[in-house]
Amino acid sequence: MSTALLTQVRERVVNKQGYQTFEIGQFKFERDEYFAHILYPGNQHIVPIEAFLRALMRDIAWGFFYGTVNFDAVFGTINHYGTVEMFVGLNNAAYRNVHKEYVETFASKDLKRVFEAIIEDWTNAGFDPFAAPEETGNAYGVKHGDNLNAVQRQRLAAKRMIGLPGDLKLRTERDGHSVNRSFADVPQDNPELHPEPGFESEVHAVNLYGYLSRSDVTWNPSVVSVVKDSLLCPTTEEFVLPIIHGNDRVEWFVQFSDEIIWDVEDKITGMPACKVVMKAGDVAAMPADIRHRGYSPKRSMLLVWENNDGTLPHRHASGELPPYPVAF
Ligand code: PHB
Ligand code: FE
Repeated sequence: MSTALLTQVRERVVNKQGYQTFEIGQFKFERDEYFAHILYPGNQHIVPIEAFLRALMRDIAWGFFYGTVNFDAVFGTINHYGTVEMFVGLNNAAYRNVHKEYVETFASKDLKRVFEAIIEDWTNAGFDPFAAPEETGNAYGVKHGDNLNAVQRQRLAAKRMIGLPGDLKLRTERDGHSVNRSFADVPQDNPELHPEPGFESEVHAVNLYGYLSRSDVTWNPSVVSVVKDSLLCPTTEEFVLPIIHGNDRVEWFVQFSDEIIWDVEDKITGMPACKVVMKAGDVAAMPADIRHRGYSPKRSMLLVWENNDGTLPHRHASGELPPYPVAF
């Protein structure tokens, strides 16, 4: 049989719940009605399917993000910007103490392709991994349909700033972006601009709260303005951040509205470090040596401020830079 034909035949093989099984390197991914099963040399790991799909969706959409995307305390990926490590137990003191961690490195584009195939096959009709639990159907059951529109959403990234000519468009009712139920009180008027004659093309302003109030996704920072390596990535949050983020640089948070409670742990061992309760107006810097997961009891607006300087990961890792942005 030719290789092409063999691949076609293998792709059509599904398990008794109707789902395809996927393999890359020595990892194998299987799903049933309730769980994702991750099989790897020596053992296996199990993750509830809704949590798995929500985490997988972010890992794909963010191109493996900055540093580590932990799906839970055991399984995740580490971005090396071109290659990516996929691991079991690497950031878990119990696994490490008995040398039961397992890691493989892949070209980012190869792992991305497999992750995309998994999310397309394993997401059923009616479930949107980006949506708040109150605003989507559930992920469970035997295979029934798909939701390609939801899982193939393109990541929104402004080239310079939203609303500028030729850049990302602002969201409007007409384009199907209605105001979220939690943000009905957010004013929708636009700022008035009065530039001096001759400066009309150099001054720009938008109603960012209005823009955010019309987001239909949660826990999905999107770039709204770029100044060199400074990326402003606001996002709307509801329920739980689907990943535990282990950063490779400092990251700033500005709480625009409502409240998010953060669990902060040691990046490598997972030992609890502190709780951070952020109320509207609060500002925090997440250091480069921790991991964090946020909980938003009500839909809230959060500004994530990222530093896109590619030299930062090794400067933090080598100790040249301290993990904190400011020493008091
Ligand atoms: C983060 O890991 O810092 C993060 C990720 C997604 C969000 C907010 C914060 O929506
Ligand atoms: Fe983070």
